[in-house]
Amino acid sequence: MYKLSPSILAADFSKLGEEIKAVADAGAEYIHIDVMDGVFVPSISLGMPVIQSVRKITDKIFDVHLMITEPERYIKDFVKCGADIITVHFETLKYPGKVIEDIKAMGVKVGLSINPETSVQAVLPYLPQLDMVLIMTVRPGFGGQEYIGYCTEKVSTLRKHITEHGFNTDIEVDGGINTTTIETVLEAGANVIVMGSSIFKGNISENMKKYTEILNKWESAKADKEAL
Ligand code: DX5
Ligand code: ZN
Repeated sequence: MYKLSPSILAADFSKLGEEIKAVADAGAEYIHIDVMDGVFVPSISLGMPVIQSVRKITDKIFDVHLMITEPERYIKDFVKCGADIITVHFETLKYPGKVIEDIKAMGVKVGLSINPETSVQAVLPYLPQLDMVLIMTVRPGFGGQEYIGYCTEKVSTLRKHITEHGFNTDIEVDGGINTTTIETVLEAGANVIVMGSSIFKGNISENMKKYTEILNKWESAKADKEAL
């Protein structure tokens, strides 16, 4: 249930393949891939050719986070180059329900993301259709930013709503997650944890080990609770 999704935005792109292999070998089930267009967010990151190339390295789940305007124009391309989960931003969509259905129809999982300024109420109508909600915990556009405290409450509100309605939706958090804030988001109810700098800066396998242990601890605590 708890998953770590290392964000390759913080990787050394001169050895991207090696670093993806390192997180995969260290047990990451997801690989988080940030696509930025310089319009929806200020920066430009990477696109289809890079994803297609690194697809050959691992069969881990490619968790593709589209920070782009009119993402509906590119869904087919991202599926073709190897995305397993496609997350689009609520703020970029005129007809969120339609785009969500179109992504699902392509045979991949679908996530809907909201910026820190966007109310969590925005995603509630779409929960029955969604595999995942991505709550941004920094302003999208750059790695290495500080966690925005007021986003925690959005995670707990959403977790409460999901539990009350019996949905099976994952809650992913993205931005500023480190040894301190990971406990905050897990406590609030997030279960898919994106981490860029905390994994790729320094020793990748040691970082993976540290955070995998934290998630395993939460996983077994949850199992114990359910067994009661
Ligand atoms: C930010 C991206 C994040 C980013 C997270 O726009 O969506 O995935 O890489 O990086 P850290 O973990 O360094 O905040
Ligand atoms: Zn991201």
